[in-house]
Amino acid sequence: MEFQNYINGKWAEGRSKFQTINPANEELLAEIAQAETADVDAAVTAATEAFKSWRLMPAPLRGELLFKIGDILKQKKEELARLLTQDMGKVIAEARGDVQEAIDMAYYMGGEGRRLLGYTAPVEMPNKFGMAVRDPAGVVGLITPWNFPIAVPSWKIFPALIAGNTIIWKPSPETPAISAAFVKVFEEAGLPAGVFNLLLAAGVEVAKALVNHPGVRVLSFTGSTTTGRAIAESAAKLNKKLSLEMGGKNAIIVMDDANVELVTDATLWAAFGTSGQRCTAASRLIVQKGIASKVKESLVERTKTLKLGNGLDETVEIGPVINKAAIKRIDQYVQIGQKEGARALVGASIADVNGKGFFYSPTLFDGVRPGSTLEAEEIFGPVLSIIEVDALEEAIEVNNRSQYGLSTSIFTQDVNRAFTAMRDIFSGLVYINHGTTGAEIQFPFGGVRGTGNGHREAGQAALEVFTEWKSIYVDYSGKLQRAQIDNREE
Ligand code: UN1
Repeated sequence: MEFQNYINGKWAEGRSKFQTINPANEELLAEIAQAETADVDAAVTAATEAFKSWRLMPAPLRGELLFKIGDILKQKKEELARLLTQDMGKVIAEARGDVQEAIDMAYYMGGEGRRLLGYTAPVEMPNKFGMAVRDPAGVVGLITPWNFPIAVPSWKIFPALIAGNTIIWKPSPETPAISAAFVKVFEEAGLPAGVFNLLLAAGVEVAKALVNHPGVRVLSFTGSTTTGRAIAESAAKLNKKLSLEMGGKNAIIVMDDANVELVTDATLWAAFGTSGQRCTAASRLIVQKGIASKVKESLVERTKTLKLGNGLDETVEIGPVINKAAIKRIDQYVQIGQKEGARALVGASIADVNGKGFFYSPTLFDGVRPGSTLEAEEIFGPVLSIIEVDALEEAIEVNNRSQYGLSTSIFTQDVNRAFTAMRDIFSGLVYINHGTTGAEIQFPFGGVRGTGNGHREAGQAALEVFTEWKSIYVDYSGKLQRAQIDNREE
């Protein structure tokens, strides 16, 4: 297979190529045209030109195009999911979910074509009218990770398009094949040339050029906190609008009254689904002492039975991690954990699946101290740290002390505890009796502290990132009416 860059409605060869391999078997999946910084200029020029007419297309018609994109995604769901699994490794059921999030987002934002609500408010002068409307922001640059190669970009692409922006998308070089296949759907639906441009590139040069390009007004980034902060520094110098979605160290809190079987099902799914490579993955289990041994026993027993392998096999539960470097990083964290005195209950080793691919055994650590490396840092792999606490207040404190604040869940059957948790947990997402993953697209997605910079993706909130408010005053009195002055008696 071969994939190219998409600039101004044309697929463009690169001067050089890079490769993408299947992390389940290390086989070559596709050759990819390498974009260069000159392509960033070409894409910005195309997007700037396309913006002139795209912003003027009535939003309901833009919405109809999004519905068409949703329809094609639906038809191609299985084909895209299979390519996604081969490019990124997640098991096929999860890959279908990834594509489904895009379908949901396409229809949801398609509907926004007939809303994009602004508002009117009374004004203080007679014969005058006031309204606030949403303007598109302009050319937007999107930089996205490999772990949700279709879903996460969709949270940015669809709101950006419906609002009338044009896009330059730079996905992760780990998942270029599925990214290009996704863009082909927009082409097939008839999106005008230049509205949506794709740059595939290994290395950081192209992303840097996009971040620093004066023609790009908005940047939206999902990825590591370190990279996000670096982007923020560059973006600030050019006064760009910037939305960041970064790390997590998500916790599941388990109270004494919880249902152990449910806790086990939910924890395995939240901690080891996508091999722990979700920003929302549970990597801490904060458990009340009275129920701790029952929960551990049940988790260990079930973790041992999890089937690792190639995600295209429907019976496989855990796919590979993304690459060799990830294996090394995860294993280093495991060794640090052991040095710090935590005890591995299961896993804690690189897994061998037919001698090929990048697999790590699902790992449970017991006796993890709050503040230790295992407890504090994002590992982005199948490693869950168990921390015991005496009471709800302590559990919430441990949760809130994290440098990150994306997703937290609590298992309890006590409505008083549940409501206390909802009030006192400081995270962007809170789940009651469900793990930390599984956000739906109609609600805002994002986090506090080191996870974000105050913006949200998906839901109505996404429109805030990709629109500028314009307040319009219409005076039809035929004379000068000075606000704050001419309507006063004194
Ligand atoms: C992510 O890990 O970046 O809530 C996104 C979830 C998914 C999306 C995760 N719907 O886990």
